[in-house]
Amino acid sequence: MKLTHAVDYLNGLLGDRRSPEVAIILGSGLGGLADLIEDPLAVDYHDIPDFVRSTAGGHRGQMIFGSLGSVSVVAMAGRFHRYEGWSNDETAYPVRVMQALGATRMIVSNAAGGVNPKLKVGDIMIIRDHINLMGGTFAFNASGRSRLGQSSRHPIYDESMMEAARVAAMRADFSVMFGCYLATLGPTYETRAEYRMMRKIGGDVVGMSTVPEVLAAGELGMKVLGLSMVSNVADPDRPNVADHQEVLAAGQDAAVRMEAIVRGVLA
Ligand code: HPA
Repeated sequence: MKLTHAVDYLNGLLGDRRSPEVAIILGSGLGGLADLIEDPLAVDYHDIPDFVRSTAGGHRGQMIFGSLGSVSVVAMAGRFHRYEGWSNDETAYPVRVMQALGATRMIVSNAAGGVNPKLKVGDIMIIRDHINLMGGTFAFNASGRSRLGQSSRHPIYDESMMEAARVAAMRADFSVMFGCYLATLGPTYETRAEYRMMRKIGGDVVGMSTVPEVLAAGELGMKVLGLSMVSNVADPDRPNVADHQEVLAAGQDAAVRMEAIVRGVLA
């Protein structure tokens, strides 16, 4: 997979605008954050050469360039999932594009099931670490030398961004938990036995995204903040049906708090 065509095309559109410093990936139901971007330039994924296409509901399928406060950003409204059939490389491809355009930090968000019984629907969790049960490998290596092997020795998620997120939540008068994001391939939700296992092995939330993008960002030396919005409670003793509508509804409530965190971290 080549970056050149997509990067040249986007740089051409950006003209003399500032290069993005921070990449933001908006998860299910959290796309409203994109509307806060000032002086926006929205580019449809299907107009970008070599770009993969987003198909999951609730996703716009656009890259939005602009600023949030004084920070130049590029946001992805709509992301790619392994369960749509994309490889790790394809799923993480936009991250490489955004990094090549200048982004050195990434804020990635998702909707996830709350595995830790302390979590309620609408809660936001700051991702401190992850468990990758999604599998798959990366073939495409933009740097020509993989740093993925370092991820177990060096924390992937950036301490200072995590702390900034906690402070932003505190200032906006709500509390957030730090925890572990467990990634599955999906697209099926879990069985009760699987939820039990996930609790035992240390997962706090479970979702089907984020890890490929975070691994690529880590490889590229980007600083990463991950935020999960709890869209449903994954209680093995009270099985619930988590459908896409539920995920989107929880997202609307949590979006305001998510915005407070993103703005606080950027400030
Ligand atoms: N399981 C997996 N992925 C999810 C869930 C869940 O319960 N909720 C939102 N994404």
